[in-house]
Formats: sequence, C-alpha cells, structure tokens
Amino acid sequence: METMTTLTSPAEFTIQRPNYSHTSAIRWVFSHVIRHNWVIVMVFLGAFGNAALAALVPVLVGDAFNAMLQPMPDTRALIPLALLIGGTQVIRGILQLGRNFGAELLGQRLEAEIRDELYISLLGKSMTFHSLQPVGDTMARATNDVREINLMFNPGMNLVIGSFFFLVMPIVAAPRYHPALLITPVLFAIAYFASLARYLKTLQPISDEVRASFGNMNSHLSESLDGVETVKGAAQEDSEVERFVLNAKRVRDAFIKQGDIEARFIAFLLYGIAIALGLTHALFLFREGLLNTGQVIAYFGLLRMLDFPTFTSSWAYTQVSMGLAGARRILELINRETDLDQNAAGHSAEMKGEIEFRNVTFTYPDTERAQRVSDSGESVLNSVSFKVKPGQTVAVVGQTGAGKTSLVKLINRTYDINDGQVLVDGMDVREWNLASLRSQISMIEQDIFLFSRSISENIAFGRPGATQDEVEAAGKAAQAHDFIETFEKGYETVIGERGVTLSGGQRQRLALGRAFMTDPRILILDDSTSAIDSATEDKIQRAISAAARGRTTFIITHRLSQIRWADLIIVLRKGRVAAMGTHDELMQTSDAYSRIFQE
Ligand code: CTP
Ligand code: MG
Repeated sequence: METMTTLTSPAEFTIQRPNYSHTSAIRWVFSHVIRHNWVIVMVFLGAFGNAALAALVPVLVGDAFNAMLQPMPDTRALIPLALLIGGTQVIRGILQLGRNFGAELLGQRLEAEIRDELYISLLGKSMTFHSLQPVGDTMARATNDVREINLMFNPGMNLVIGSFFFLVMPIVAAPRYHPALLITPVLFAIAYFASLARYLKTLQPISDEVRASFGNMNSHLSESLDGVETVKGAAQEDSEVERFVLNAKRVRDAFIKQGDIEARFIAFLLYGIAIALGLTHALFLFREGLLNTGQVIAYFGLLRMLDFPTFTSSWAYTQVSMGLAGARRILELINRETDLDQNAAGHSAEMKGEIEFRNVTFTYPDTERAQRVSDSGESVLNSVSFKVKPGQTVAVVGQTGAGKTSLVKLINRTYDINDGQVLVDGMDVREWNLASLRSQISMIEQDIFLFSRSISENIAFGRPGATQDEVEAAGKAAQAHDFIETFEKGYETVIGERGVTLSGGQRQRLALGRAFMTDPRILILDDSTSAIDSATEDKIQRAISAAARGRTTFIITHRLSQIRWADLIIVLRKGRVAAMGTHDELMQTSDAYSRIFQE
C-alpha cells in the first residue's frame, strides 16, 4: 500500500496525495517513477531483449560464414540460420515496441502526475508567495519544465537504457570467441562512462541556465502581454521589444553553449578507436590461429553495436540533463516556503461577525519597497485599533495608498500582520481554522476577477452545484439580473468570449451576486472605483445595502452616499487612523475627513 500524506505543509490548502520524496530532484522523480513498476519492468525487459537479439545477428552471421568456408560447403545449413535471424528480428521488433511504448507511457503519466502535484501545491501557497513569484515564471515551469520531464523519459531515458544494453552485449558475447577479446569493449565502456561523467558535469549548469533563461523570457513576455494596454498607452512598444530581444538572446546563447558542449563530447572518437583497435586485435588472434574467419566477422559485428550508445549518447543524456534541470525548478517551487499555516486544528465555528484590531502594524513581506519602508521605520499600517460589533457597517476612507486595501486583507489572513492582533469574535485570526475563517468572509476585490466561464458559474463560484434558481435569485439581489438578461444567452453567456466583456459596474454586481451566494458573516467590499453613472450608482447602492443587511460589512469607497450611512467611519492617512466615528461626528471634528470630500 502507498502511504498517503498531506502535501508540503505548511500550506493554506492541502489534498491527500501519495507520499513523494521532496529532498532532491532525482529522488523526487524516482519516487514518482517507482509507482509505475510494471511499466519499468516492460522498459527494461524490452531494452534487454532488443539488445540480446541484436547481438544474435552477428553471432549467427559468423556461424553462416563458417558453414560456407567448410571444404564442402553445405548451403542447406544456411536456411535454418536465415529463418532464425528473421524470426528473432521480428520478436526484437516487438520488444523494441514494448520498450518505446513503456517509456512513452511513463513520460506521459509522469507529466500529468507532476503537473497535478505542482498545481495543487500552487493553490496551497500563501498570497505572500504568489505576490512575490512572477506568473510567467510559474507558467514556464508548469508547462515547459514539466514537458522536459516527459522528454527525459522518452526519448531520454528510453535511449539511455536501450543503448546501455548495447554497450553490455559485446562484453557478454566476446569471450565466447576468445577471452582476450574482452579488452576492447571493456576499455570502451570505461572510457565512455568516464567521458560521460565529465560531460554531464559540464552540462548541468548549462541545462540549468537554459531552463532559467527560458523561464525568465516567459515571465517578461507574460507581464508585458498582461500590461499591453499600459505598454501601448505609454507608447513603450519599442523598449518592450528591446527587452524581449535581450531575453531571447540570453535563451539563444544558453542553447548555443549547450550545443557547443555537446559537440565536444568525445564518444565518436572513442567509437572510431574501439573499432580500429578491436579489428586489429581480432586479426592478430586470427593470424595466431586462435580465431577463425566467421569468429572475426561475428566479433566485428558485435563491436558495431557500440554505435548505438555512441550516437544517442550526446543528445539522450542532454535530454536527461534538461529533464533534471526542469525537475529541480519544479521541485524548488513546490518546496518553497509558504508563510501562512492553514491551522487545520484551529478554531472552527459559526461566526458572529465581531471584528477588533488591536495596535495592528503591518508591512508587506520581502519586497524592495517593504525594505525601503521598514528602513525608514514606516509600515503600511501603524498601530491601527478599532472595534466593530456584529452586523455593523464600516466605511474605510482615505487617500490612495493610505492602506485601505491592506487593512481589509488582514481580516481573512490574505496577509499576516507583523505586530498587534486581529480578532474575529474575540479570537485571534491565527487561532482560527483558515478554511473556516475564509469561508465565512467574502471579499470583493478592488479589481474584480472574473473567470472565462459562464456568468452562472462566476456567480456560483463559491458554491458550485447551486441551482439555476439560486443563481438567479442572487443575480436579482445584486441588481445584475436586468443586464444579464440583455445578453442573448443570459446566464449562460461566457465572459471574454465573442466580445462579451463587462463594465466596472457590471463586474461589481456580479461579485455582489457571488457574495449573496455564499451568505458570508463578514462582507468586504473594496470599491475604490468612482466613475459610474448615477443610474448604475443607484443600483449598486441598492445591491450593497441589501448585501450588507444582517452581516458585518466593510466598505472601502469614495462615495459620500455610501459613507454616510455607515455605523463607523475609519479615516486612514499614511497607514494611521486619522479619525474615527460616525459621519456627523466626523464632519464636526475632523479636518482630514472633510478634506476627503473636497478632493
Ligand atoms: N503595497 C505594497 N505591496 C502590495 C500592496 C500595497 O507594498 N502588494 C503598499 C502600497 O505601495 C501603498 C501601501 O502598501 O503604499 C498601501 O496600499 P493599499 O492598502 O493598497 O492602499 P489603498 O488605500 O487601498 O489605496 P487605493 O485607494 O489606491 O486602493
Ligand atoms: Mg485599495
């Protein structure tokens, strides 16, 4: 039985997976391979049988020569020999097929398995990880590096194993003619492995460089495509092209370096020497009367088998080296620490919705900016304290960059604070079971993300399996029903397909629909967009008040109409609470507050 453990802890999300080793790339790949034992058996049997039957040909040809060189040649002796050669070569073809099939199967299965493992591990990583790791680089690893692992098995390992047995056969078969004939194939094998070891050692850093430069090029490409609007808006196409060309050059140079090393691999030279040496040796023994003609021919044929390991060696091992480089990059990503702990054993209960911040200080982890900020002794949030009763509505206001978004992201532990305490229902959020905490908090982000799926699926994202009626009810409550019905396919309209894109206001209402679906205890609405026409504004307003009913709600907004009816208004300035209270109180007491409405 396979042992099952949870994947790389600590993580925010785990799933039961087989227990793979994560200590080194080779062990990790091996722990994947070993689970397909019968496929491995098939590859090895196929490779061995293929080589053994290939070795039979020169042996039988040698016998045929000897039969013909008799004083009274008997041509009938040739017929069984010919049939034997024909028959064994058919079997050999089947065995070869088995080897190729096994290797291909292994490659494809491993590719799928490793892709799954990587994906699950990525979902388990904290936002801290994701905000520091470029998407393009992750994409390069999840696609191309995983693909390299596949190629490492077929053709890589397939040919390495296949050609290994071709190297062994002359050593096994030569002594049947004369023990001294072992010298050449043995010397060849020693020189071959020695040069291979050196070759692989010089190749490894280049393989790593090839994979890394490729990932780098990808991440820049994906970033500039993501930001293509900005690039065009700023007329920076030329400089982006220049950057891309530079990155592409690095990839090219790395590949050229690899080709250079491949070209210097001396296996071809060794093969030439082995053939010359072996033939000379055999002829010498022939002159001494220790070998007959057929035996010389058979031996020569056996030596010719060494051309398979010679010709495949440079690129088959390159493939293996590239696969291992890819494996190292994937494993590095899987193993990279993720700071948040999902705290599976933590507090898990129905939430009332009381929130308290006690002297909260927060700085974004590890970014250059965070470094600068903490050097200057200033955090994104500084000693923020407030308390909200269940069901209250809180408006968070402040200038751009004041820390509003950062503040609300601490409630569901998108990020963890550096100092102080964030409490939900009187319990530190770090004491909560992360899944329980997050499933009861719904966050509508500043830039709302919609999946390229149907509107229905987008609304029901937090509750897959919801009925059409439930989805429509949520759509109505979110004031989204009317505009959805204007689409030809209504709720089945796929976003992003055939030009269906949504305006900011429409996206927001879909996101509100999501919130209605999950019925969270705490709703957070990061609504810093302001330019919306008054008819839409009115609808959103109504949707929001409906959504806020019966739950604790945080609204980040610039709209006076929304701020007014909040139970508590928090005015942030440069990461500090500048003022706090109700609208009427603040209008009288706070300059900072009145100033916001003068902008
Ligand atoms: N910040 C950061 N790393 C992030 C996000 C934000 O270092 N991943 C910094 C920003 O540079 C900013 C500060 O944190 O100085 C507060 O950012 P944020 O909370 O996003 O500000 P908001 O008040 O939400 O600003 P806006 O109204 O523009 O949304
Ligand atoms: Mg913001």
